[in-house]
Amino acid sequence: MITDTAFDIQKTSQSRLDQVDFDNLGFGNVFSDHMLEVEYTGGEWKQPTIKPYGNIEVPPALHVFHYGQSVFEGAKAYHVDNETVNLFRIEKNYERMARSCERICMPFVDRDVFMEGIKTLINVDSGWVPRKEGNVLYIRPFLSAFDTVIAANPSETYRFYVITSPVGAYYSKSVKLTTAEKYIRAAKGGVGAAKFAGNYAGSFLPARKAQEQGFDQVLWLDAFEHQYVEEVGTMNIFFVIDGVLVTPKLQGTILPGVTRDSVIQLAKKWDMPVEERRINIEEVIEAGQAGVLEEAFGAGTAAVISPIREIHHDGSSVTPQETERGEVGQKLYDTITGIQRSAIEDPFDWVHP
Ligand code: COI
Repeated sequence: MITDTAFDIQKTSQSRLDQVDFDNLGFGNVFSDHMLEVEYTGGEWKQPTIKPYGNIEVPPALHVFHYGQSVFEGAKAYHVDNETVNLFRIEKNYERMARSCERICMPFVDRDVFMEGIKTLINVDSGWVPRKEGNVLYIRPFLSAFDTVIAANPSETYRFYVITSPVGAYYSKSVKLTTAEKYIRAAKGGVGAAKFAGNYAGSFLPARKAQEQGFDQVLWLDAFEHQYVEEVGTMNIFFVIDGVLVTPKLQGTILPGVTRDSVIQLAKKWDMPVEERRINIEEVIEAGQAGVLEEAFGAGTAAVISPIREIHHDGSSVTPQETERGEVGQKLYDTITGIQRSAIEDPFDWVHP
C-alpha cells in the first residue's frame, strides 16, 4: 500500500537540455533532467519523489547486484504539438509490470503512482520529448531489490524508478537472424513471460555469437523440442505466410508485447486472417523455399515494426519476398506510429494525451 500518492517534486536548478544534439540521437545514452523514485521499506511504499536525474550511492552488498531481482518496462512519449505529448497504452505496461513483479516475488506500486508518476515526470521534462518525426522519449520504469544482505531470499526493501531518454530508431535497417543451436531464451515454468532483467542478460552471449557469424539477432526456439519459434532478439515475431499473419501463441515463455497485441488488434480490424499458434521453424523455411513467406518482422516498443531480411536455421537460409517493410509491415508501422502521434484516428482509445 502507498501511504501518500502526492508527489514531492524537486526540480533541478541546472537543466542539461541545451547539451543534447537532438539531430543525432542514439538509443538510451542520454537521460532527461528528472527521474521518479519510490522506496519500499518496512512493508510499505513511501512518498513518490520526482528529483534530478543523478547517481545513486549503494553498498556493494546491494541485493540486486547478487541475485538480479529486478524487472523493467519500456514505453514511449510522443510529441504531438506544443501543448500535447501522448502516451500509448501505458496501462498495459503497468499490468505487465505488476505480473512481472509477482513472478519475481516483489511488491509493486499502486496503479495511480505508476500512471500519475509517469505523467507528472513527462510534464516536468516535456522539453525533452523530441520533436523530429521518428524520435521519441523512451520511458524506462524499473524496480530492483535494495536490501543490503547477501542471503538468497527475496529482498525486503525495493526501489521503483522511472528514467526517460530521448531516442532515435532502435534498428536502422532490416535484420538477419539465425536460430541458436545450443541456447534457449525461456522454458515453460520459467520467467520468459516476465520483463525480468536476467532474461536480457542471458540473451547477450547467444546474440554475440550470432553476430560473430554475421547475423544481427537470434531467432529463439522453444526449450523443449527446439523446433517452435518463440521470439526474435528482444521482440515478438510475425510472419506473413500466403496472406495470413502468423505469430507464436503466448504459452508462458513469450513476453506478451504491447506492440504484439496492437499488431494483432489492427490486423483483425482490417479483416486480415490472423493466427496465434505454434510455428515450426521448418514451416518457415519451407514457406521461404516455396516463395510464400511474404514478410517477416519483429514487433516491440523500442523497435516498433522491424523487418527481417534473412532467416538461417540448421544449414538452410531463406529470404522473405519483402526484405524491407512490406505492405503489411509498413501499414502496421504507419498506423501504429500515426495513432501514437495523433496523426490518424485512434479507434481503440490507445492514446493518453
Ligand atoms: C522495448 O522494446 O522496450 C524493450 O524492452 C527492448 C529493450 C531491451 C530495448
